[in-house]
Amino acid sequence: MIHMVGMTCLSGCDVCCTGKLLILPFKINDEVLNPLRNSTMNTLTLTQENAIATITLNRPDKLNALNTELLSELDTVLDQLANDKDVRCVIITGAGAKAFAAGADIAELHECDESTGMAFAERGQTVFMKIEQFRVPVIAAVNGFALGGGCELALACHIRIASSNAKFGQPEVKLGIIPGYGGTQRLTRLCGTAIAIELICGGGMIDSERALRCGLVNTVVPSEELMNTVTSLATAISTMAPLAVEASLRSIYAVPLVTPHEGMGVEALEFKAVCGTADFKEGTSAFLEKRAATFTGN
Ligand code: COA
Repeated sequence: MIHMVGMTCLSGCDVCCTGKLLILPFKINDEVLNPLRNSTMNTLTLTQENAIATITLNRPDKLNALNTELLSELDTVLDQLANDKDVRCVIITGAGAKAFAAGADIAELHECDESTGMAFAERGQTVFMKIEQFRVPVIAAVNGFALGGGCELALACHIRIASSNAKFGQPEVKLGIIPGYGGTQRLTRLCGTAIAIELICGGGMIDSERALRCGLVNTVVPSEELMNTVTSLATAISTMAPLAVEASLRSIYAVPLVTPHEGMGVEALEFKAVCGTADFKEGTSAFLEKRAATFTGN
């Protein structure tokens, strides 16, 4: 099933859910079918193919810098996808060959002062927290610069796959500020204190191979293979039992929040819950009957 935001119905109608990209025989009023497109979707695009939604940050002339409008649109799109049970994996990438995102929009940032700084940071943190707590895996396909807020966006995603030309950095100290969208926290948790201090206090960039060695990214692939690699992984995820995938995410993301002992309790509770699902019976039956499983998310 393909839904193309801006081209097809968002409500799962019989017309568009035919298994193919919809080619309508009449002109649609897309303001009615897709209220997101004309009202707010100026800085990103959203495409849905099968169970995979791809959000593309779309300000290539500004290296996809994260301005207020983009963050607000990202927030809206995440809410929309969170409620769409057909979506089983989300990809976030940047438009153009040069950047995933080159950070918060420095022109907007320049207007910040002590009275607005807190709100500025919290706005980005709130959206990125939504990504980290998203019910299905979110993969960052990092295709170039991931700097400042761009690096923090990638860090908020569950998985990061980088092209060989990707560059990562938290250069905020060069501007007289520090990372404000979660970078000091997530980078430190993911890569350790020494790497976080080197990148954040030194303000330098690292290439994708170094990022791989630091554990900042899962995989590095040639640029031309990036989207195929990410889509293959997203497809694999989206064919697994959805409730089991969601339960796995919840259990893994409980790790920094609870003690090791409590974590075992969280895992056992999630395990118990999936044991009660139809998909569990389907998965085990399919194995025993030597056939492919068909999961329904029940
Ligand atoms: N905010 C706003 N605009 C940005 C931006 C940002 N974070 N990063 C890049 N841009 C804009 C540039 O101003 C330029 O716009 P213009 O053509 O209207 O002048 C355009 O994107 C292209 O960037 P440019 O600097 O010309 O490209 P480059 O290849 O010479 O350099 C970078 C690329 C990424 C090294 C450089 O753009 C840069 O250092 N960006 C800022 C990174 C940063 O500090 N991020 C943290 C912000 S908190």
